[in-house]
Amino acid sequence: MRSQARIPRPHRVTVVASIAAVTALVWLARQAQDAVAGAPAPAAAREVASGQRLFIKYFCYSCHGTDGQGGAGVRLKEPFLPPFATFRSYVRKPAGRMPAYRSNALSDTELEYIYAYLKSIPAPASAKSIPLLNQ
Ligand code: HEC
Repeated sequence: MRSQARIPRPHRVTVVASIAAVTALVWLARQAQDAVAGAPAPAAAREVASGQRLFIKYFCYSCHGTDGQGGAGVRLKEPFLPPFATFRSYVRKPAGRMPAYRSNALSDTELEYIYAYLKSIPAPASAKSIPLLNQ
């Protein structure tokens, strides 16, 4: 309070105006960035990144492979990825060797992020598109 009182009034107006101008510029720059064609929506990119982290954190990777390519567990990437509802109910109540993850340990939101990550992994090339495998 004390230091503010010492700034003469016209200066205070200038300071407030500069802050407003800088804020507006930052906002405009962000808008321009988001508008770049083809760039993924920032929210989606963040979900994919969180999903990848959670896939490691909850040890999904240890059975399903770091890229969902499979291992002790089944492949979890396109074109083998089940719809989200099936995916979630399996994780909650698996029928085989997989351990169950209840919602108090792994939330639905976290599962959505994991799913977004798995969805983002490109499907492998089909064997037909690899000449050496078609001789
Ligand atoms: C200890 C090994 C192991 C871990 C850890 C594990 N899984 Fe699995 N998962 C399996 C196995 C094995 C299967 C095949 C079915 C079975 O035996 O339960 C499977 C099946 C699945 C399926 C069904 C796939 C389908 O096409 O029907 C989903 C979805 C799945 N896992 C997701 C996950 C997710 C997400 C995590 C981490 C939160 C995870 N799993 C962690 C071993 C594991």
